[in-house]
Amino acid sequence: MHVAIIMDGNGRWATQRGLPRTAGHIEGAKTVRSVVEAAARSGVDVLTLYAFSSANWSRPAGETSALMRLFGQYLFTETRRCVEQSIRLNVIGRRDRLGDNLLRAIEQSERLTAGGTGMHLRIAVDYSSQASILQAARRVRAEGPLDSDAFMALLNEVDHCAYPSGEVDLLIRTGHERRLSDFLLWECAYAELYFADCLWPEFGESEFKAALDDFARRQRRFGRVAAHDPLGIRGEGT
Ligand code: IPE
Ligand code: IPE
Ligand code: MG
Repeated sequence: MHVAIIMDGNGRWATQRGLPRTAGHIEGAKTVRSVVEAAARSGVDVLTLYAFSSANWSRPAGETSALMRLFGQYLFTETRRCVEQSIRLNVIGRRDRLGDNLLRAIEQSERLTAGGTGMHLRIAVDYSSQASILQAARRVRAEGPLDSDAFMALLNEVDHCAYPSGEVDLLIRTGHERRLSDFLLWECAYAELYFADCLWPEFGESEFKAALDDFARRQRRFGRVAAHDPLGIRGEGT
């Protein structure tokens, strides 16, 4: 089970309270901790969180540097918790535009959590799905087989994803927007979409459970007709 989350709405959460946007990001980081733990307890195999898109570099420098600083702090405090919970942490996305200290922190977290046998936690930072697909396409060799698994392996390689992660089963987005914002375009080919009616700092364990419950009620057909309805004469959702 691979769950991916577009964690959106931190800025609006803060603005509604008359606070600077950064205060929303600080609150959002607390949500990350509780959702990671809830996912691990729920038996999710892979959790991919969208923390910073490549497009987010176009925000004011004060906000991007605050986000990078928060991410570094997150790695500093959460690596130990990941080790304790046997969670393997992996940062996906471009690395060439991150600061040296942050890069070292990422490498250290990945090294320290590499032995985890539980959930695989992927945090997307400076991530653009279109850029990853383009880069993977450039690595395709003219000869040799290329099926979707092989292409997925190339994508994982360009994204610095150290372990196989597979396609997304459930994509959750908070923050009242209904778009993908360049997140996991290839991996979400057959993902179930779930839009939580709250801002990211308001999302918690019960909202996460509600998303999983909703997912459990979905009928995934992958283009086929339902197994119990071979003639396809009953409507959707039966
Ligand atoms: C999501 O919250 C966090 C990042 C994109 C880094 P936003 O910062 O996008 O918050 P809103 O959408 O402006 O409320
Ligand atoms: C998507 O949120 C990126 C992250 C959550 C990191 P944005 O707030 O950047 O997306 P748009 O601009 O609303 O599409
Ligand atoms: Mg946003």
